[in-house]
Amino acid sequence: MTEEWVNVLFVKLQAKLHAEAERVKSDIPFIPIGGHYRDLMMPGGLCWWCNGFWPGMLWQMNHASGDEIYRTYAAAVDERLVPLLDEPGKLDHDIGFLFILSALAEYNVTGNEAAKNNVIKAADILASRFRRNGGFIEAWNPGTIPGTDTSGMMIADCMMNLSLLYRASEITGNKSYAEIASAHADTAMRYLVRPDGSAAHIARVNPENGELTEYPSGQGFAPESAWSRGQGWILYGFTNAWKHTGKKEYLETAKRSAHYCISALAVNDWLPAVDFRAPQDGRMDSTAGMIIASGLLELADAVKNEELGEHECELYRSAAIKLLKACDEKFDNWSTETDGIVTNGSLRYHDDRMYGASIIYGDYYLTEAVLKLKDLYLSVW
Ligand code: GLY
Repeated sequence: MTEEWVNVLFVKLQAKLHAEAERVKSDIPFIPIGGHYRDLMMPGGLCWWCNGFWPGMLWQMNHASGDEIYRTYAAAVDERLVPLLDEPGKLDHDIGFLFILSALAEYNVTGNEAAKNNVIKAADILASRFRRNGGFIEAWNPGTIPGTDTSGMMIADCMMNLSLLYRASEITGNKSYAEIASAHADTAMRYLVRPDGSAAHIARVNPENGELTEYPSGQGFAPESAWSRGQGWILYGFTNAWKHTGKKEYLETAKRSAHYCISALAVNDWLPAVDFRAPQDGRMDSTAGMIIASGLLELADAVKNEELGEHECELYRSAAIKLLKACDEKFDNWSTETDGIVTNGSLRYHDDRMYGASIIYGDYYLTEAVLKLKDLYLSVW
């Protein structure tokens, strides 16, 4: 029954993304306006942290289908992103999202040397953000978020960016990238993840001695709440960290995070509220749902060879499928005439601009999840 549902979803995904690729080509989409994407719609232009999700989706689909249309446009978008590597001052920790899903995905598919060099350049830039005495990667540059003092901030989202460092170590044999990634993961485990498996979005840490200073407000309801997308970054990010290091605490942390997410989703018909620990007004963040779903499938794969792993694998896999099914029923737009799939995305709890739209990263993680269920996923994180 599930298999049939996955097959149908895969057929719809192929039709939708093929139509989008023909329309969007090497433009860089984010949110459709009036049903259609525009190139580089956000003020940050090429630097916008989400600009890797479209080529990431195209590389995934090229890997899954062999269709050249995806490869042609993915390579063209990658070319557009490369000049960013010469302007590191304009980039932040999300250089991981940008180059894991472009250069690294390209390298994994093609083995192209230029793409490999771009992965290493990007990893060097990310590593330069490491505050060695504090043991963390600083998220932003002064002035990145107008009116906010971002000094010493480390954030949940960065757990995903660590894969750029782990992969750079694997590619080059230079362990220092992975050491930085694990030092950051250790600090995130200490300060961001709570005993119940929920996580704060942001911690401010003293870069000189690694002491926690405060929990500033982030994209969730409040510093002590549980912004759902942040829970997804933690769950998926610690699963990746475990896969790259084999460090048991990372797997335990990923599982704790998964159990918190599963509980919060199960009491809400498997639909992802914007924040799991906040006044519930019916607003959803479908992007959180897709990240959690793909993260749970990654975790299912991670535990399958552990003791009693086959049972745990089924726990995480079936939760992911329940979540994907619930969101598909309520949110997915499969019309091939308009852009964007998973509607009901949210940028942040206290900001209803563009609320309800499909957001490119929601569609990216849906694509990952479907391809994982079809055994066609290109491993990038
Ligand atoms: N990385 C920022 C976000 O998830 O919105």
